Amino acid sequence: ATEKTYEHLLVSTPKPGVGLVQLNRPKALNALFTPLILELNQALRGFQADQSIGAIVLTGSDRAFAAGADIKEMKDLTFSDAYGQDFIETWSDLVTFLKKPLITAVNGYALGGGCELAMMGDIIYAGPKATFGQPEIKLGVIPGAGGSQRLTKAIGKSRAMETILTGDNISAKQAGEWGLVAKMFETPEECVNGALATAEKIASYSQIAVKACKEVVNKSQDLGIREGVEYERRVFHGLFGSQDQKIGMAAFAAKEKAKWSNK
Ligand code: CAA
Repeated sequence: ATEKTYEHLLVSTPKPGVGLVQLNRPKALNALFTPLILELNQALRGFQADQSIGAIVLTGSDRAFAAGADIKEMKDLTFSDAYGQDFIETWSDLVTFLKKPLITAVNGYALGGGCELAMMGDIIYAGPKATFGQPEIKLGVIPGAGGSQRLTKAIGKSRAMETILTGDNISAKQAGEWGLVAKMFETPEECVNGALATAEKIASYSQIAVKACKEVVNKSQDLGIREGVEYERRVFHGLFGSQDQKIGMAAFAAKEKAKWSNK
């Protein structure tokens, strides 16, 4: 699945253990129409199934990560079409099946659905011209792929409310200060390379432990602190049943580098 060619994506494995997906619909600033979302779904599923891949980077072009859902595709939808087909539901699939860490490397516009897609990343990195925003209010609608929920969790209610109600953009600098992005870079290339380097580092660890890390951090989004901490402890205890816990701790004691079994 990893080697397949796509019409609207460039998919590669540029570093050991790292899958890279680049959105490639330049004429429409990577507007996220259904064929692209279906391909993205396939590409991510391919990397999820590929045991040699430990982490994934998703990026766009220097000009646009993605300028949103495709407005031309949406403009004539009726309520019955949207509700009947559960329009945008396939977008949620993108992340629910993905157990491997996803880093979104954002350069240029990440607006509407593009901002929402960026926020589906477990880690967001941004280049100097990254521009985030939820401009749906200007189109007479609201965010439809998780923006009102993920942006609010990421930057707090007052800032999210202001962003979503005004449709104003969030600059890269502001996104950094508000903690929407984990790291800022000085050029688009550094942003993508930084994401690839982080993905390579993550892929070098025990994939069992990496999977558990992602699972427990994500639980913090849904659970209260007490249940969350209990959940974490159960998973932590579970890892003492893995080979990699023995390998990792024995290597530390022997002052050697761990050679993970991913078991
Ligand atoms: N859908 C469809 N086509 C889009 C698009 C989108 N979201 N964004 C850009 N394009 C197309 C433009 O129509 C244009 O195509 P043509 O050359 O055929 O006219 C091409 O991409 C280049 O765009 P511009 O000429 O507009 O480029 P610009 O540099 O002048 O402006 C921009 C860039 C500010 C990003 C502007 O394109 C823009 O405002 N785009 C729309 C942003 C937006 O509203 N996104 C939210 C969509 S709604 C949504 O996402 C719902 C949801 O929550 C899931």
